[in-house]
Amino acid sequence: MSGPSLADIFNSTSPDFDTVTPLVWGPAGEALVDEVGLSPGDRVLDVCAGTGASALAAARVVGPQGSVVAVDFAADLIGRARAAADAAGLRNIDFRVDDVTALPGRDDGGYDALICGFGVFFLPDMDDTVRRLLTLLRPGGRLGFAVWHGDALYDFVGTFYTEVARMTGAEPPPSPRDPSDGPPHPITRIDTVDKITGWLAALGAVGASASVLTLRVPRTDEFSWSMVLGSGMRGALHGMEPQTVADLRDVFLRRLADDGMSEVRCDTLIATARRP
Ligand SMILES: C[S@@+](CC[C@H](N)C(=O)[O-])C[C@H]1O[C@@H](n2cnc3c(N)ncnc32)[C@H](O)[C@@H]1O
Repeated sequence: MSGPSLADIFNSTSPDFDTVTPLVWGPAGEALVDEVGLSPGDRVLDVCAGTGASALAAARVVGPQGSVVAVDFAADLIGRARAAADAAGLRNIDFRVDDVTALPGRDDGGYDALICGFGVFFLPDMDDTVRRLLTLLRPGGRLGFAVWHGDALYDFVGTFYTEVARMTGAEPPPSPRDPSDGPPHPITRIDTVDKITGWLAALGAVGASASVLTLRVPRTDEFSWSMVLGSGMRGALHGMEPQTVADLRDVFLRRLADDGMSEVRCDTLIATARRP
């Protein structure tokens, strides 16, 4: 039997996704919009938009004369994003439930900016998709990505999957940094300033630069479990009995505390570039 799709996993995060927003997705989305340098009136495409952390920030900057198209294949997250925009009185965002890999490319490019927060490394062929997304920008249009920096979340996520494996008897999934015969994991290809700027240049973007947003969140039980339930890690809970989930929560949180983790490192790399 096959597991849930990535869209199903992200839909299941919906009740918990926004508990993480004020501490991680929100500040990163604001920083991404700042760095990409939007102006009033700009037309922006936000891919892998989730509940709208960067789309709402962009909509505020571009104002009523500008517009944001926010795309994500998790309909429940887009529903939350739409509700948040309504509550904020933002009427310049067009929310779309769609697979980013299926967006048609256009050579004439209609957007002034393309942004993507913590989504690009989920794309099955990120080079091919980003190359195509670049064609949606007008010449000189700007692009910006937020991704995890360096070791961000490695010990946290590693501890989670180790405890899942202990609980279920299954092999833990390989860490992105494990040696493998296959191609490198997308996350490890773009996790430093040099790597992500080199990657953007190789895809044909110009003027690439990147900076690190240091985001450290105190390691509380509440935040740690929200981070599991409100992210792709939630997929590991699929099909588990509620008691197993409760036991896993206990051992995972105890392990983090026993390991002396005082903060969760959510450091974020913000990279920007332009279409030539
Ligand atoms: C970690 S979340 C980040 C969401 C949002 N950008 C933020 O910063 O809060 C990653 C998002 O990517 C979306 N996603 C992943 N692959 C996608 C695809 N091929 N098409 C559309 N959305 C995708 C997921 O549904 C999820 O909402």
